[in-house]
Amino acid sequence: MNPTETKSWAKLAAHASATSRKPLSELVTGEHALGSFEVGGCYFDFSKQNIDATTRTHLLSLAEEMTVEAERDRMLRGDSINLSENRAVLHTALREGADAGIDISKDIEDTHKRMFEISERIRSGVWRGYTGKPITDVVHIGIGGSHLGPELVVNAMSKQARTGPRIHFVANIDGNELFPILAGLNPETSFFIVASKSFTTLETQVNAQSARAWFLERTCSVSAIAQHFLAVTTNIEAAAQFGLPEQNLLPMRDWVGGRFSLWSTVGLPIAIALGADCFRHLLAGARTVDEHFIQTPLATNVPVLTALSAIWNYNFLGAGSLAILCYDERLRLLPAYLQQLEMESNGKGVTRDGSPVSIHTSGIVWGGTGTRGQHAYHQLLHQGTRAFTADFILIAKDDYDKPEHHQWLAANALAQSQAMAIGFEAEAEPHRNLPGNRPTTTIVMEQLGPFELGALLAVYEHKVFCQGIIWNINSFDQWGVEVGKRLAHPIYETLTQGIDHDQDTATAALIRHLRKTP
Ligand code: F6P
Repeated sequence: MNPTETKSWAKLAAHASATSRKPLSELVTGEHALGSFEVGGCYFDFSKQNIDATTRTHLLSLAEEMTVEAERDRMLRGDSINLSENRAVLHTALREGADAGIDISKDIEDTHKRMFEISERIRSGVWRGYTGKPITDVVHIGIGGSHLGPELVVNAMSKQARTGPRIHFVANIDGNELFPILAGLNPETSFFIVASKSFTTLETQVNAQSARAWFLERTCSVSAIAQHFLAVTTNIEAAAQFGLPEQNLLPMRDWVGGRFSLWSTVGLPIAIALGADCFRHLLAGARTVDEHFIQTPLATNVPVLTALSAIWNYNFLGAGSLAILCYDERLRLLPAYLQQLEMESNGKGVTRDGSPVSIHTSGIVWGGTGTRGQHAYHQLLHQGTRAFTADFILIAKDDYDKPEHHQWLAANALAQSQAMAIGFEAEAEPHRNLPGNRPTTTIVMEQLGPFELGALLAVYEHKVFCQGIIWNINSFDQWGVEVGKRLAHPIYETLTQGIDHDQDTATAALIRHLRKTP
């Protein structure tokens, strides 16, 4: 169904343009229509969203008219809701304790068990390299969904990683990422994870082959590969061709989308860096949110409310972007993770039945850490001309017991969202004016533990799902990425071998320029 044909969409549109609607500066001082909710150790405060009681009523009706709950149940029971690829979407089944149905829950349990056995052997030094030495460095090679989640979690939890090897992440095909890492490694004590659901992704293939060549040049032993390389993939055949024995292959399943896969064997570096218990807490946090998403009525359901407020901002208030403003340096990779989750999922221009969409879908997701951002891009957020929305993310617990750092950090976050909501008026000095009326959500995590992080990420996952249902798009495919991949091949041939391919004049001129540059 087209959301614009629902009664609630028309009501929302009328309400959005009603002059009687109170500005956000007034809403924040009164009673809040949406309020605040806690789930999985994370407190979601929607009171700085520009949502009054009428907006709330119509948004909730929109979720009902678009049958969000029924669609959620279809996803959870394994219907093939990823229509263009005819696949089920079952990342929720990976969270421990989830009722995944007998045929896949055994598989999930066994696969997690194998992953933890491997991770514990590497962590504890039982897994030895080909000369008998324990592993000191793990290099994770993968990109997109096979990279962003593990890197985020390992980075965010790095304080907890007191034992175990160093973990390095290589995603880009740019040699500036791989080669400096290899230069600092000893092949006898290095371990490479090649994570690729398809095992055909160019970047991962090229990086894996280069790592393999580097390893073989130094060890001169093909048989040693078995002690130093492992693949995480659905494409067991291709990984075997890479030279890996069966015991060095950890399966992924086609019912887990790349950007929803950190809970699967893609999370191996998390288990190696932080241990199986930490991984289980991550799963438990996500599971807590799954239960909340399944059991809680729409009106108090955090992922649903998060999705609805985004839809109000994007489709009715003209917002074009979502800023993820993390007031904790350990979350510095979160904007990049959410960028893929939201933009690759919901950056779509056709509906589930293939017709062009008539409304905006995902906005541009970007962000960084506070307070750094306050001295960079917050100027635009306060006085610029573009409409946006933002999520402020804070951690309540002060890990260093240093209020002069931690409470200043929190005070800054609250002050920024306050200024964005209320604005500032300097009579006779217009250059000092802040218009306010910028809608934001504040998320306070009790602490930055694996449980809370798992919960936070699961809220965003379900938010993305709800938005996709309401926009009537497929959030689980990514065909837009394919064309670029194909086009790069002929250009590569021209750049490296001078093979002539018919190119547009602009691209041909750039190729000529690059071929002249030594
Ligand atoms: O960027 C497109 C994409 O297909 C992502 O969805 C995926 O996470 C990434 O490439 C990596 O794919 P693979 O795991 O198959 O290497």
